[in-house]
Amino acid sequence: MKKFNAGNFIKEKTDEIKKQVGSGKALCALSGGVDSTVAAVLAHKVLGNRLLCLFIDDGLMRENEANDVAKMFKSRGIRTKVLAAQKEFFQSLKGIEEPEEKRKIFRNIFYQTLGSAVKKEKADYLIQGTIAADILETKKGIKTQHNVLEQIGFSPKKYGLKILEPLKTLYKNDVREVARTLGLPKILSERMPFPGPGLATRVVGEVTLKRIKIVRKATKIVEEEIKKLKPFQVLAVLFQDKATGIVEGKRRFGNIIAIRSVESKDAITAKVTKIPWKILEKVAERIIKEIPSVVKVLYDLTPKPPSTIEYI
Ligand code: XMP
Repeated sequence: MKKFNAGNFIKEKTDEIKKQVGSGKALCALSGGVDSTVAAVLAHKVLGNRLLCLFIDDGLMRENEANDVAKMFKSRGIRTKVLAAQKEFFQSLKGIEEPEEKRKIFRNIFYQTLGSAVKKEKADYLIQGTIAADILETKKGIKTQHNVLEQIGFSPKKYGLKILEPLKTLYKNDVREVARTLGLPKILSERMPFPGPGLATRVVGEVTLKRIKIVRKATKIVEEEIKKLKPFQVLAVLFQDKATGIVEGKRRFGNIIAIRSVESKDAITAKVTKIPWKILEKVAERIIKEIPSVVKVLYDLTPKPPSTIEYI
C-alpha cells in the first residue's frame, strides 16, 4: 500500500474546497476533537473569514471544553462562535434510556441547531470532520455515528445544507499526521478521541444534568490520572444500575462508575490498557472521595471486539 503523504493530501483537499465553495460561505461545527479541528483548519486556509466555526454547547462536553476550544480557535485567527443550546439538548433527551434512540435524538437536535445557524449565517456549505471509521461502523450497523448522514436517511437538504467531508477517506492516524503537517500543537494533533454526542454516551440510561455532572467529574479525574500513560482513549461511565456501599458507617444504595482505558490504532479494534495497580487505586479513591454519590468503581477489562469502546 502506498504510504500516506499528508502534504499532498492538504494540497488536494484545499484545492477541492476552493473549487467547491468558490466565493461562497461555509460553516464548520467544532467538537474540539482532532477531526473537526483539522477539517476547520484546512477550510480556513482557503476560505479565511468566509469560514465560521461554530461550537454548539450542548451541555454534554467535558469541563471548560466549549470555552477552551473557542479560545484556541480564536487565537489562531479563525472566526468562531459558541452557541448555547444546553436547554434544548437536555429537554429533548429527557426520559430517553434506549442507546440508539438517544443517539438519534442527539443527532436530530444537533442538526436542527446547526441548520438554523447555517440559515442565520447564510452559509452555503457545512464542513464536517467525518472520518472513514465513522462511515464504516455506521455502514456495518454497529452504531449510529451522529455525523454520518448518507447512511441514516437524514436529509441535509431539508436544512439547506450542502455538505463537505474532506477527511472521509482517512483513519485517525492519518488525520493526526495531517494535523502535525498543518503545524497544529500537540494538544490538538494528539488529542484523545471524544464522541460527538459527548458525555451522553457515557451515562447509561437517562441523560439528566445531575447525571452528566457526575460523569463529568469522573472524566476529569480519570483524564488527570491516566492520560499520562498516553492511552488511545480513557473514559468514565456512569451506570444505570446502583449498588450498595457504606457511607459514614451507613448502608447507601449509590452510583457505580466504570473506568475504561484502551489502546488502538483506528478505534476499529482495541485492547485494554494495562494500568499499574497504584494508579487504578488512586483513581478509585479520588472518585469515591470527590463524588459522594458513587459507592463502587470498576475497571473494564473487555477488548473491542466483542465490546465497543463507548457504552452506548
Ligand atoms: P465505539 O464505541 O464504536 O467507538 O467502539 C469507536 C470510536 O468512535 C468514537 N465514537 C464517536 N465519535 N461520533 C463521533 O464523532 C459518535 O457518535 C461516536 N460514537 C463513538 C468513540 O469515542 C471511539 O473513539
